[in-house]
Amino acid sequence: MLPATSERQQKATVRPSRTSRTEHLLEMSRAALQVSLLLLAALGSAGAANDQEHGGEETPHSPEKGPGHSHWSYEELQHWGMDYPFCADTMQSPINIDTAKTIFSPQLRPIQLSGYSLPANERLKLRNNGHTVVLQLPESLALTGGYAQQYRAVQLHLHWGSPSGPGSEHTVNGHRFAAEIHVVHYNTKYSNFKEAMVHPDGLAVLGAFLEVGPRENPYYQEILEHLYKIEGEDKEVLVPGFNIAGLLPANLKHYFHYNGSLTTPPCYQTVKWTVFNQTMLLSPEQMSMLENSLRNDNGNPLQNNYRPAQDLHGRRVLASFQTTLMSTKQLPPGSESAVAGEGHSTSSFHAGDVLAVLFGVLFAITALAFLLYIYKHRSQNTRLDSPTKSKVIYTAASTENTA
Ligand SMILES: *[C@@H]1O[C@H](CO)[C@@H](O)[C@H](O)[C@H]1NC(C)=O
Ligand SMILES: *[C@@H]1O[C@H](CO)[C@@H](O)[C@H](O)[C@H]1NC(C)=O
Repeated sequence: MLPATSERQQKATVRPSRTSRTEHLLEMSRAALQVSLLLLAALGSAGAANDQEHGGEETPHSPEKGPGHSHWSYEELQHWGMDYPFCADTMQSPINIDTAKTIFSPQLRPIQLSGYSLPANERLKLRNNGHTVVLQLPESLALTGGYAQQYRAVQLHLHWGSPSGPGSEHTVNGHRFAAEIHVVHYNTKYSNFKEAMVHPDGLAVLGAFLEVGPRENPYYQEILEHLYKIEGEDKEVLVPGFNIAGLLPANLKHYFHYNGSLTTPPCYQTVKWTVFNQTMLLSPEQMSMLENSLRNDNGNPLQNNYRPAQDLHGRRVLASFQTTLMSTKQLPPGSESAVAGEGHSTSSFHAGDVLAVLFGVLFAITALAFLLYIYKHRSQNTRLDSPTKSKVIYTAASTENTA
């Protein structure tokens, strides 16, 4: 009916089918939601913006040194800064990730793991170092995507709580998860881990949260089943190789990224952190094995080996995906893993999508009513105008690259 249409749609070779129109509408709805939520966020957080960004008073740097012993413990967290000055500096880890304050950065590509699948005849050293359990990794494991430079794996270790409380290091919107895995890598432009760990771009650590789920996780079992052999500090055992990638989420696209530090002394501020949005699930028995198998140097149970969240001191936290303003912190832990499969929690994206569509439709109806109103108003004044010849063209505001 409109001859002009085909000319205007030069780029689209085929008229949009009904389904692709629906898809388009969904896209627009999502965009509309994002705009609305951004506005709401701007209004809502205007007052509270300052507290995390410019963390009030500075942590005083204590001038006098401590006893100088190189020993540290999680019972004496507040002393770390005396023996290891970096621990009191301003780019420390872990942090609380406030998802509403993260910056969406589309240029953050999916993390790519190479050489992570190890044959069973390759033996790996598993060690209780008195602070955690460490699995030494061969240098064949590498990060080949998601970071601008190449990084090689060195070791992985875990942080956990106790039967009476969770023990992840990072928290998300104030929520502490049951446990956390860290896979430590060093930049291949340095000759080894020791040299790399003192340079600002030296280390890359992948972090993922562990939660309790219904099934046994076969990958974590490859570590947990050996813990009883290394109960005491400095004990070690050789374990068969397995697919190390199975210890990390299947979804390597959705993560948070920030500049931080080692979470134990000497707290070097040389870590480019990746914290995955998808969580890993362990059975209740497995979580209990993690929490109850090891002892520290005092012979006490090795538990609660996590450092609390450190001040951001104005640092930015990037997100590789668009976080909605929906907060899951009010939900009971585990309820977001209701749709877990294969030991992977796919968490909160579904609820977000439904809301997006809902808001989008509301937005569309409002827009339509507005357009209708304008049209009626116009046709009352100028009856000659063809209804299809509206001169007002509304386009969705671009929401790209709000970062
Ligand atoms: C991390 O530090 C590097 C080097 O100073 C900087 O280029 C980069 O933007 C920082 N990343 C973030 C997320 O702030
Ligand atoms: C994942 O991202 C969603 C959306 O921002 C957020 O609600 C949820 O808490 C995040 N979970 C983790 C483990 O990062």
